[in-house]
Amino acid sequence: MMNTYEILKSAHSGWRYVVFLLLLIAVIQAIVSWIDKKEYTERNRKLNVFTLISAHIQFVFGVILYFLSPLTKGPMADTLYRYWKVEHISMMIIAVILITVGNAKSKKGTDSVKRHKSIAIFFGLALISIVVAILMMVNSDPSKSFFGIS
Ligand code: HEM
Repeated sequence: MMNTYEILKSAHSGWRYVVFLLLLIAVIQAIVSWIDKKEYTERNRKLNVFTLISAHIQFVFGVILYFLSPLTKGPMADTLYRYWKVEHISMMIIAVILITVGNAKSKKGTDSVKRHKSIAIFFGLALISIVVAILMMVNSDPSKSFFGIS
């Protein structure tokens, strides 16, 4: 039987691909639509909202894991524990905030170009933050890999 920690760990581990793929598609679509001055469609809006929701779900899994995981219970002097105690949480929260702000700005935008631009910039920065955080994870914790679910 899996315990709560193991269930959440697998959920958080696998859900990253949902967040990552939605975010990647949203960013590419926003950049292309911004450059081509395309209309901001209902389809665009839905994709951005699904991306936002997926990130918030990942955030909730992460916050609970923060309390349950043995990886957050060790000395800061140790690269591995420092990563899990402060670096992962900080960079991922920054990413979630960027996604939240980007989505909010896209709603306030007065024209399609501005809306695509908000998504392209804010979601783009969030994507960078997530990729950097995962690269740092691979460097700090030898038991984790860039791809692969645990
Ligand atoms: C978009 C946001 C996030 C992404 C993409 C993400 C991604 C990941 C990945 C890839 C892992 C490694 C999972 C594995 O072992 O295969 C992980 C683990 C973990 N994450 Fe996140 N994370 C996010 C947000 C957060 C947040 C906001 C927190 C805390 C508040 C958090 C806390 C943790 C903890 C504690 C672990 C270690 C679990 C363990 O192995 O014991 N994550 N995360």
